[in-house]
Amino acid sequence: MIETRPLPDSPFGVEILGVDFSKSVSDGDIRTILRLFHEHEVILVREQEMDYDRYDWLTRHFGNHHPHFLDHLRLEGHPAILLLSNIIEDGNPVGVFEGAAFWHTDVAYEDPPNSSTVVYGREWGEQGCPTHFCDTRGAYDALPDTMKERIEDLTVLHHYGNREDLNEHSKTSAEKLTAVQKDRIKNVYHPLAKRHPFTGRRSLYGVAGSSFGIVGMPDDEAIDLLDELRDHALQPQFTTSLDFQIGDVGAWDTFSTLHKATALKPATGSRDRRLLWRISVNGFPRLLASEASKE
Ligand SMILES: [Fe+2]
Repeated sequence: MIETRPLPDSPFGVEILGVDFSKSVSDGDIRTILRLFHEHEVILVREQEMDYDRYDWLTRHFGNHHPHFLDHLRLEGHPAILLLSNIIEDGNPVGVFEGAAFWHTDVAYEDPPNSSTVVYGREWGEQGCPTHFCDTRGAYDALPDTMKERIEDLTVLHHYGNREDLNEHSKTSAEKLTAVQKDRIKNVYHPLAKRHPFTGRRSLYGVAGSSFGIVGMPDDEAIDLLDELRDHALQPQFTTSLDFQIGDVGAWDTFSTLHKATALKPATGSRDRRLLWRISVNGFPRLLASEASKE
């Protein structure tokens, strides 16, 4: 039977217990998990044993697999899986190493944007590696009405990158791109106060990371407003962190959260290796299709 408990010392998110993804899971239980996911924004399910096929099966319940823009860091033979790791082989990182250590929303630089990200812990280094999360739905709710009215109809320009750090050699910039990938960067547009397709609630969508301007607003004014909203959202009452261990499944709702990885040093041996599988999806969970469209 599925049960929940709050994440320790966290203003949001929930741990889900009573499910074993290595075995058959009913559609009813999957629906329960997906509804908990939308309600709590971040979920954690511990001690799961999955191979590629089972992880593939699980993640397809969240939406449509969307192989990552960083095509050189996908897992060979499993293009939907992006590796997050500090492992270096033959001088090359095997996955995203330093490219996510800044507040961002996954794949907000595409249209459609990703709707959720699901990670699975494969290796964990004793130095730890927390992933930080921000509840941008709670942050929106806490805004004064005057600010809610000001941003209600605003549209934000997004493209790949971190607007706070454009030096591609920095540890807090977005993952460095190949020349071909740079040519693929394009501008896309998303609502600032985005309404969630299932909960119907608004959040401060993508106010850090890939947001670079606001339609119809001078750039300096737009950046000031995005920075103000980002600083509001990153207050302690809206943030938490999780250090994904081996066997942990973690998922975050990209419509209502920001997150930030921790930059690690390169692994030196088995004790400090960190490896997560990561799949981001777009679209809606098929099993909840009839409940969508509150955007
Ligand atoms: Fe990310």
